Amino acid sequence: MKPKVYVTCIIPEKGLEIVREFCEMEIWHGEIPPPHEVIVERVRDKAGLLCLLTDRIDAEVMDAASQLRVISNYAVGYDNIDIPTATARGIIVGNTPGVLTETTADFAFALLMAAARRVVEGVHYVQAGRWRTWGPMLMLGQDIHGATLGIVGLGRIGTAVARRAAGFQMRVIYYDQTRKRGLEDELGLEYVNLPTLLRQADFVSLHVPLVPQTRHVIGRPELQLMKPTAVLINTARGSIVDTGALYLALREGEIAYAALDVTDPEPIPHDDPLLSLDNVIVVPHIASASVATRTRMAVMAAENLIAGLKGQMPPHAVNPEALA
Ligand code: NAP
Ligand code: GLV
Ligand code: GLV
Repeated sequence: MKPKVYVTCIIPEKGLEIVREFCEMEIWHGEIPPPHEVIVERVRDKAGLLCLLTDRIDAEVMDAASQLRVISNYAVGYDNIDIPTATARGIIVGNTPGVLTETTADFAFALLMAAARRVVEGVHYVQAGRWRTWGPMLMLGQDIHGATLGIVGLGRIGTAVARRAAGFQMRVIYYDQTRKRGLEDELGLEYVNLPTLLRQADFVSLHVPLVPQTRHVIGRPELQLMKPTAVLINTARGSIVDTGALYLALREGEIAYAALDVTDPEPIPHDDPLLSLDNVIVVPHIASASVATRTRMAVMAAENLIAGLKGQMPPHAVNPEALA
């Protein structure tokens, strides 16, 4: 008999093919994620769960699922899952690191450039019929080349962003909980503490995971350290930034611009004051959204799921100690 699994969203077919081959699959077909109580209900008789970052997988879900052996997250970030509880119950959790690194870094750079050079404002200006002539003072922005980029979290994605910055002759400084000396030498980076990074950077790009220590790591005091010309780019998790403080800083001109792929909450309400500002770009959490990468993530998530169902260590497990 094939093991039963619940999949909370339709993912690219290459991944679902693998799941179907090895499992009896039940899948949620809605465009909006299943409500929490639906997940709790559907996992009752399942050995595996393939879920998204929009699904909160907490003790209640795991309590309901007495046979659950593996949770496979279709994302590299896993702040949506209660890992200590999973580990305590011997449930292995998988994620999708690496395959989305370059795609996400591309997008962080796209946001950086769009904000620096006011691309979105320019589009709106033309669409509104306001383009009359070439103007010496029209939509002046910030140079990217030669500027200082501050990377918060020099992990896989942060490093990939640093590599891109080298091509723009940027000076790159970084802050991380762990100093990465090998990368400093290889990429010519400077390690600084967070206040120094915020004071010196023309662009601040966030690449830490969301954990208790990084929640609101960019709040009012931190924004006040930044240059009035600075741009904040967030492709990590929305609540790493204090949204209310960010709104004030942008409105008061304490920083120049923000470009956000992720928000707190997500989705951002349509009437959120942040969306009334001209100096903000918000896009709907699409940094890893390339055809090729989403397909690779689907295969990786399926392979993690299958390995966990077989009692093997998934190729990408976040809590290997769960199987000890
Ligand atoms: P990663 O390789 O684990 O990098 C995270 C880095 O942050 C590591 O260098 C880590 O240091 C550092 N770090 C962890 N906790 C910290 C703390 N409290 N203070 C300072 N630094 C800390 O992860 P990644 O693959 O680059 O992904 C990073 C995050 O990006 C994910 O967790 C996810 O939330 C987000 N993401 C978003 C999208 C999107 O679509 N917008 C796509 C992919 C990823 P250590 O070396 O000490 O662990
Ligand atoms: C996306 O946000 C991810 O964590 O993969
Ligand atoms: C602008 O188009 C220029 O030629 O400088």
